[in-house]
Amino acid sequence: MRSVDAPVANGITVAVVGATGAAGQTTLKILEERKFPVRELRAFASERSVGKSVTFKGDEIPIRRVEAGAFKGVDIAFCSAGSAQAKEYAPLIRKDGAVIVDKSNAFRMDPKVPLVVPEINPGAARRHDGILSCPNCTTIVTVMPLKPLHDAGRLTRVVATSFQAVSGAGVNGIAELREQTLAWAKGEAVAPRHFAHQIAFNLLPQIDAFQPDGYTGEEKKLVDELRKILELPELRVAPTTVRVPVFTCHSIAVNAETERKVTVAEARQVFERFPGLKLWDEPAQQRYPMPIAVEGQDDCFVGRIREDLSHDRALNFWVVGDQLRKGAATNAVQIAELLLPS
Ligand code: A2P
Repeated sequence: MRSVDAPVANGITVAVVGATGAAGQTTLKILEERKFPVRELRAFASERSVGKSVTFKGDEIPIRRVEAGAFKGVDIAFCSAGSAQAKEYAPLIRKDGAVIVDKSNAFRMDPKVPLVVPEINPGAARRHDGILSCPNCTTIVTVMPLKPLHDAGRLTRVVATSFQAVSGAGVNGIAELREQTLAWAKGEAVAPRHFAHQIAFNLLPQIDAFQPDGYTGEEKKLVDELRKILELPELRVAPTTVRVPVFTCHSIAVNAETERKVTVAEARQVFERFPGLKLWDEPAQQRYPMPIAVEGQDDCFVGRIREDLSHDRALNFWVVGDQLRKGAATNAVQIAELLLPS
């Protein structure tokens, strides 16, 4: 295993690329919250942000531009500046010797790059060659309950419909929902800029570009990434991904078929025992996971667990996760924790 060599007692040097963005800002927060052993933090963003700064542990950290030599001495670089940037910058970051934990889609399906959810496949992190990928936010929230269900009854088919928050589209998505909501309340015209259509008081059944088969890029990611993480290359997955006017947290309605029947009682048990997953399933008390209740937490929350009325070996459930935290920054920092010398 290639791990980070620096003695952790003194801390390590960490870079955050995309530090001004929604996921980058959350990464700074999580590094602080989890007391990640940071000796030095370097923050990177686009040319536009050079001259600005971000806050880490109360210190103002100046934004740097990504350039040759800027990562010398960096042990781990968290990248959340988008796929094109990840592809462009990875060789330069690697040349300076840093291990990359990338949040984008750039390397996820590369067979040499581990796609890691630490509660599920921590061992994969040992097989890296300098780059580790963090799955798509919707994949992470969906796979958290699927893994214990698979261990209990072997998954054969998954139907997943997502309800995805605007912060999944970054700071522009957050600004657009806020601006459109305010404009609507004032009776002003609502004009889309970042999303293809109005997002306030609307649902957009398109995230990412359409593929020739009619599925979107986001739906394709869910299929491919679930198969890779669960090591089930033949798993049948039917995805629909939808952008909703919610600021934070992705929710997914899942129908999961298994080879062996898993009862509702058994599912509740295996969900409850799985690290990083919490059960909120008390219909009589109207208690179930919702974005506003889950926001700010690292666990994913599962509820509405029911037998499928149309199939005797399938369950329906509802899972919600803060996609900026477990769906992005927390998962990335957990991956980095696996790289620290023990
Ligand atoms: P900037 O704020 O300078 O545009 P989000 O996902 O919330 O939209 O954030 C994207 C992040 O990626 C931001 O920090 C953004 O910086 C950064 N970014 C965008 N383009 C580049 C680039 N070409 N080089 C480095 N960082 C970039």
